[in-house]
Amino acid sequence: MEKKKSSGLAFALFLQLLCSVAGLDRSQFPSSFLFGTSTSSYQIEGAYLEGNKSLSNWDVFTHVPGHIEDSSDGDIADDHYHLYMEDIELMHHLGVNSYRFSISWSRILPRGRFGKVNSAGIAFYNRLIDALLLKGMQPFVTLNHYDIPQELEDRYGAWLNPQIQKDFGHYADVCFRAFGKKVKYWSTFNEPNVVATKGFMTGEYPPQHCSKPFGDCLSGDSNIEPYIAAHNIILAHATAVEIYKKKYQAKQGGSIGIVISSSWFEPLRDIPADRLAVQRALAFETAWFLDPIVFGEYPPEMRQILGLRLPTFSSEDRRKLQYKLDFIGINHYTSHYAKDCMFSPCEEGSTGSTAFVISTSERNGIPIGTPTSMPSNYVVPEGMEKIVMYTMQRYNNITMVVTENGCAQGSTRNDPTTNMLNDKDRVEFLHSYLTALTRAMRQGADVRGYFIWSLLDNFEWLYGYTQRFGLYHVNFETQERTPKLSAKWFKEFLEGPEVIERMNIDLESL
Ligand SMILES: *[C@@H]1O[C@H](CO)[C@@H](O)[C@H](O)[C@H]1NC(C)=O
Ligand SMILES: *[C@@H]1O[C@H](CO)[C@@H](O)[C@H](O)[C@H]1NC(C)=O
Repeated sequence: MEKKKSSGLAFALFLQLLCSVAGLDRSQFPSSFLFGTSTSSYQIEGAYLEGNKSLSNWDVFTHVPGHIEDSSDGDIADDHYHLYMEDIELMHHLGVNSYRFSISWSRILPRGRFGKVNSAGIAFYNRLIDALLLKGMQPFVTLNHYDIPQELEDRYGAWLNPQIQKDFGHYADVCFRAFGKKVKYWSTFNEPNVVATKGFMTGEYPPQHCSKPFGDCLSGDSNIEPYIAAHNIILAHATAVEIYKKKYQAKQGGSIGIVISSSWFEPLRDIPADRLAVQRALAFETAWFLDPIVFGEYPPEMRQILGLRLPTFSSEDRRKLQYKLDFIGINHYTSHYAKDCMFSPCEEGSTGSTAFVISTSERNGIPIGTPTSMPSNYVVPEGMEKIVMYTMQRYNNITMVVTENGCAQGSTRNDPTTNMLNDKDRVEFLHSYLTALTRAMRQGADVRGYFIWSLLDNFEWLYGYTQRFGLYHVNFETQERTPKLSAKWFKEFLEGPEVIERMNIDLESL
């Protein structure tokens, strides 16, 4: 009891300090602003063979020894498939008004368009969506967050084959029809730029395609395939958007966008060459997808360098791409320095080399921000303001949603709860990034929502369970969820500015 009280008091003082320094509170955001947490199907659901789900590409990939740092997989993960009601309760307790999650394609269409719609999959997401709405939380749904039915890979090479556009359109149509009356926010893809780069240039993610010097894979061509995969994803996105706009939007009244992994870059040296390197780095990371989707054309920065290696859009493709995007989702975690290597040697085989950029996290031995447990993620709050302003300016003040922001704690699968609960670093991280976001909004950026990655510690892709991003700690043996300090901070933030006074008299309720 004593201990709880004193940690509550320390927390109150800590909050008071944060607020007196930066003055961040809920009232700085419109009341309609979406605040929520973010997850993805493969990272939390588990139940990988239940409810007539088929194997996804990530099921198959993680089951091969050596692919995941701690030899783990997502077979059980957070067992969210069974514990979703408990997880909704956690979110309700936080006081969020929205929840961003993804649908597992393999649950809805186990065999893609070559088989039937799986009613058990539809039923699961209907239960989830209904329970969210009952608690006043808007579902913010991603159709594809990395995982696809393995059959599409085996049959025709998935993203490398234009057939995938048809499959994705069919999948999207099934989802809009099944859930669209209740879902007002759709994203087609999560971080397709990461899928194209890690799946087809470095070969780190399935389907592990690459060529030297980018990596050592059994098959692939790092100079060509990333651009083909990206092209098919862009057109798959356009196919889904066209279906939504023509068949559903007028009736269902929702909006549709796409989520891009968006780092920020600072010039390494204060010289024109490095400032141009920054523009190229940003174009090769985010505008690669967003320019075609918003303007119908790959970015000039890429066309100049890649020339004929970039596929072209036919007139039919252009017709599809004309449908307006309702919002851009920004996943932002960190910033890097960009150094020009147009006329000097690049790092052979690095992803930056394709843009003649050397990407680094240090200037004269000093890191760009406080390091975090994720190797290339540093704490650089200004990056949030800058990437939002860049996106606003490049895309004519388009509506934006920050769909992911957060930081990890290095851990092990069985790390005791007690080591992980006092995540003061995460509270400072979130507080500083949110404050930077308010600066962009004061400059006119049309930002409508902010989602923390993540609700729960979960399966963090190649890192397995060694990086914990959750506001809630998860004991992966017992599936027990425990709020961290950051969960308490988010709850207090959402309750509004009067909280500090109330906390002084009501510490126990924390
Ligand atoms: C799975 O599919 C089989 C065969 O179609 C069906 O009999 C069974 O009821 C399904 N299971 C669930 C949980 O829907
Ligand atoms: C961007 O659009 C929003 C919403 O329409 C508007 O409030 C804001 O002033 C615009 N910002 C700029 C810089 O034009």
